[in-house]
Amino acid sequence: MKKIQNGTLSKQNVGETVELYGWVSKRRNLGGLYFIDLRDRSGIIQLVVRPEDDCYAVAETLKNEYVIKVTGTVALRESPNEKLKTGEIEVVLKTLEILNTSLDLPFEISEDTTALEDTRLKYRYLDLRRNRLQDILKLRHQVTMATRNFLDKEEFLEIETPVLCKSTPEGARDYLVPSRVNPSKFYALPQSPQIFKQLLMVGGMEKYFQIAKCFRDEDLRADRQPEFTQIDIEMSFVEEDDVMDLGERLTAAIFKEVRGIDIPLPLRRMKYDEAMALYGSDKPDLRFDMTIQEVTSLFANTEVSFLKSSLEEGGIINAIVAKNSANQYSRKEIDKLTDYVKTYRASGLIYLKRESELTGSIAKLLTDAEKEALIEALSLEENDIAFLISGKKEIVKTSLGALRLKLGRDLGLIDPNRFELLWVVDFPSFEYSEEEGRYVACHHPFTSPKDEDVDKLIHDKANCYSKAYDIVINGYEAGGGSIRIHDQKVQATMFEALGLTEEEIKEKFGFFVEALKYGTPPHGGMAFGLDRMVMLLAGTDNIRDVIAFPKTASASCLMSEAPNVVSDKQLEELHIALTK
Ligand code: AMO
Repeated sequence: MKKIQNGTLSKQNVGETVELYGWVSKRRNLGGLYFIDLRDRSGIIQLVVRPEDDCYAVAETLKNEYVIKVTGTVALRESPNEKLKTGEIEVVLKTLEILNTSLDLPFEISEDTTALEDTRLKYRYLDLRRNRLQDILKLRHQVTMATRNFLDKEEFLEIETPVLCKSTPEGARDYLVPSRVNPSKFYALPQSPQIFKQLLMVGGMEKYFQIAKCFRDEDLRADRQPEFTQIDIEMSFVEEDDVMDLGERLTAAIFKEVRGIDIPLPLRRMKYDEAMALYGSDKPDLRFDMTIQEVTSLFANTEVSFLKSSLEEGGIINAIVAKNSANQYSRKEIDKLTDYVKTYRASGLIYLKRESELTGSIAKLLTDAEKEALIEALSLEENDIAFLISGKKEIVKTSLGALRLKLGRDLGLIDPNRFELLWVVDFPSFEYSEEEGRYVACHHPFTSPKDEDVDKLIHDKANCYSKAYDIVINGYEAGGGSIRIHDQKVQATMFEALGLTEEEIKEKFGFFVEALKYGTPPHGGMAFGLDRMVMLLAGTDNIRDVIAFPKTASASCLMSEAPNVVSDKQLEELHIALTK
C-alpha cells in the first residue's frame, strides 16, 4: 500500500529511503540525468535518475501520466525550487517500476492549461488530476466534515430522505422518473427535502440535517447546476433568531476550520426592502459602496420629455455614482453600458459627468438649479460620473443593481480576498408574476407570514411579509430558509392566498396537510448551497470547479454523455411512447 503522501516529504527526511507512488507529471533530461516530476494528490516531488543507475533504461521509456512505483533516497537539492512545497529536496532513485502506461493525452495536465472547458469536461478524470481541482475537492470535503462535526455537537441527527418522491410544486421544474410497476405514474426527484424535513419535525426528530442532493430543471447560470447539494437543516421549537444564530455559527465554524478566517458574529441584518432600495438586489455585494440613490423628486419640474412622461406614468429616477472615474467612460463605453442595462429591461441610461461643469446626455436640458441640486444630492465631485435610470421601480432598481456590480468589477472596487456576510430578512410573502398575472409565493408555500401579517394573506398580499431569511456572502445567496407554518388554519389560508383549490391542495400536498393536523411543533430551518459555499471559499466563480462530475449549461455530462437515448425495450417496460 502507498504509505507516503509525496508532498509531505521535506528536509527532515534527508537520508531516508522511501517508497513512492504516483503519476509522471513531467520528465526532463539535463546533462544525461533524468529529472522526473512525480505527482500524487499531495503535490509534486522531483525524482533523479543517474546514467549509472540500474533503472536508467526504464526512465528512458517513461511518458507523461505513466503510473510508477519508485524507491530511493531523499537528498538535498543543489538548486532549490521555491515554488514547490518539496522544492528543497529530491529523491535519488534506486528502483523504478512502471505500474501502468498512458495513452497520449488529449490535453496537457497543468494549472495554466489552455484546453477548452468542453475538452476538459469530456476527460474530467484527467482534469481532476490537476492540483487546483484536487485542492478544491479537498476543501469541499473539509466543509462537509466541519459541518458534520459542528451539527453533531449541536445534537443534530443526520437523516436521509427519499430521492424518489412525489412531485410537489416548489418553484422550479421537476425531474421526473417513470415507474415501471405503476404504469403512467412518475416519481419526481426532490428539488429539496423540504416536505420530508418538516415531516421529520412532525415525527419528533427535533434537530435534523442532511448533506442532500437536490434536482432542479431550471435555466442554468454560472452558480447553478441541475443537481446540486444542500446542507439542509430543520429544527423544532425555534424562532427566526434561533435558526439564524445556528446558521451563522455554522458558517463561522466552516470559515475558521477551512480557511482560518474569523467571521465576526452576529452578522449584520438588512431588510429585503432596504437591500432592494440601496443595492437593487436581494443579495447585495457589500464589498464596495456605490449605493443606489433616490433622485426622483429633483426632477419634479423637469423639461426632459422622456423623464416627464416616465414620472407621469408613476415611474422613478434613481442614480449611482462612480467616484473619480468620469475620464474612464468614453461615449463608446457608455453605449456598451447602455446595452448592458437594456438586458435588464431598462429603457436607457443617462449619464452625467462632473467635469469643469456638469456634462452628459441630458445636461443641456437641465436648469442650473436642477444641476446644482443633483450635484449636492449625489455629492458629485470633480471627475465623478453619475448614471441614472428612469422607469418602473422594479426595473430601475434591478438594472441599476446590475450596473453597480458591473462597475464595481470593471473599476476594480471589489477586493477578492474580502468576505462580506449578511442576512437579508423580512422578505415579502408574495411576488407578483407578470407571466401568470397573479401573486405567487416568494419562497415555498410553507413559509410562515409575520404574525402581524397573517390577516393580510388574502386581501393585502403586497404588504405581507414572511419569516424568511437568506444568508448572503459577497453577492451570492449562500443559503436561505424560514420559519414554517405549523398551524393548519394558517396553512389553509396560505394555500387559498396562492389560489389553490381544495382539490389541488389535496392532490399536491394532501399527505402533508394531513400531517399538520397531528400535533406539529413550531419549526423552521434553512439550507445552504454547499456548492456555492465551496465556490466562495475556493475563490472561483464557476460552480463546475467545485463539483467532481458537473453538467454543462445544457444540463449534460460530456464525459458519460448523459442524458441519452434508451432502448425501445426499456421504454416499453416503462409504458412510455415517444412522440418523436
Ligand atoms: P432554496 O431554494 O433557497 O431553499 O435553496 C437553498 C440554497 O441552495 C442553493 N441553490 C443552488 N445551488 C446550486 N445550483 C442550484 N440550481 C441551486 N438552487 C439553489 C442556494 C440556495 O440559497 N428548502 C429550501 C430551504 C429551506 O427553506 O429550509 C430551499 O431549497 O445557495
